[in-house]
Amino acid sequence: MAEHFRILGIESSCDDSAASVVEGRPGAARVLSSIVEGQASLHAAFGGVVPEIAARAHAERLDGCVMRALDAAELTLRDVDAVAVTAGPGLIGGVMSGVMLAKGLALGAGKPLLGVNHLAGHALTPRLTDGLTYPYLMLLVSGGHCQFLLVKGPDAFSRLGGTIDDAPGEAFDKTARLLGLPQPGGPSVETEAAKGDPRRFRLPRPLLGKSGCDMSFSGLKTALLRARDSICAESGGLTRQDRADLCAAFQAAVSDVLVEKSRRALATYLELQPSQPALAVAGGVAANAAIRTALERLCESASVRFVAPPLSLCTDNAAMIAYAGLEMFQAGGRADMSLTARPRWPLDASQTPMLGSGKKGAKA
Ligand code: KG4
Ligand code: ZN
Repeated sequence: MAEHFRILGIESSCDDSAASVVEGRPGAARVLSSIVEGQASLHAAFGGVVPEIAARAHAERLDGCVMRALDAAELTLRDVDAVAVTAGPGLIGGVMSGVMLAKGLALGAGKPLLGVNHLAGHALTPRLTDGLTYPYLMLLVSGGHCQFLLVKGPDAFSRLGGTIDDAPGEAFDKTARLLGLPQPGGPSVETEAAKGDPRRFRLPRPLLGKSGCDMSFSGLKTALLRARDSICAESGGLTRQDRADLCAAFQAAVSDVLVEKSRRALATYLELQPSQPALAVAGGVAANAAIRTALERLCESASVRFVAPPLSLCTDNAAMIAYAGLEMFQAGGRADMSLTARPRWPLDASQTPMLGSGKKGAKA
C-alpha cells in the first residue's frame, strides 16, 4: 500500500488567496483544512480582476491563510511532508507571491517544495473528492478556463479541445453586464433564465457544425447584444420578460454547445475503453443547474458516471493544489529554489496554445 502524506498547499493564481492541508495517498485523501480568502470587494469597482491589486493582496494575506490552514488542521509546519504551490498558469504577480512564500516556508522548515500546475489541481480534484480511477474525462468550465481534458495520470493530460475565445463564465458575466444584472453574472443570469422562454430568441451555437471539441462563446455575446439593441430600438427599453427570455436563450445556447461538444469528447474518451468510465466537471459554471442536468442526462445515456465535486472544491481553492502536490510527491517529483512563476503553462504541451487570455489570466 502506498504511503500516507500530509501536504500544505498554497494557491494565488487569480483573485483567491488560499491555503490548505490535505492528508492521505493518491485516490484516497482527505481535506484537513481549506482556507479561501476572496478579493471580490477589492476589484468590484474595476469590472474585473486588477493584476497589481491582486498581487499586493496575495502578498499581504497569504501568510495569514497558511497559519489559519495549519491551525484548523491542528498542525504546525513541522508536521507536513512537503509544501505545494501553484506555479502557474495565472496572473504573474499573484503566482509569484505564492511561489516566494512557499520557497521561504520550504527552505525555513527544511521541507521539500512542489510546483503545481493550477489546471492540474482542477483536473485531479475528482480523485480527491470521489477517488476516480484513471483515465477519466474532465470538463473545466469557469470564468477563466474552458477545456476538455483526458486525465490519464497525475502528469499525463491530453487536451481534446477548448474555447478559442471567451470562457463560458466570462460570457455569463458579460451577458449580465449587457442586461444590467448583478455580478457575478452566472447566478443572476440563471435566476432570470428560469422565468424566461428559451425559444423566443434564437441565438447561434458557435462552432457546432465544426468537427472536434473546440468551442467559441464571444459571438454569442455579440448576438445577444444585437437582440437587446433591436428590442430597445423597437420598444424603447427592455421589459422584465424580455430580459428573462434573453437570459433563457443565452443559457440554452451555452448548454447546447457544452452538451454537444461533451458528446464528442466522450466518444474519443470511450475509445480508450476505460474500466470505470466517468465525466467530471469543475469550475464555477458547473454550478449552473440547467447545464449540470443536461450533462448528467448525456452521461446517463452513454452509461458514463457523472461526477461534480462540491462547489467549494470546483472553484479556486488550495486543497486541489495540496492534493495534486500529494500525487506529485508520491511519484517522486520535487522542485528546488529555481522554481519560477509561469503565466502560461499548458497541461498538454503537445497542443498549440489556445488563443487569448481571459480577464482572470491565461486560458491554457
Ligand atoms: O471557477 P470560478 O469560481 O473562478 C474562475 O473563473 O476561476 O468561476 C467563476 C465563474 C464566473 O464567471 C461566474 O459567473 C460563473 O463561474 N458562475 C456561473 C454560475 N455560478 C458561477 N455560471 C453559470 N451559472 C451559474 N450558476
Ligand atoms: Zn481555476
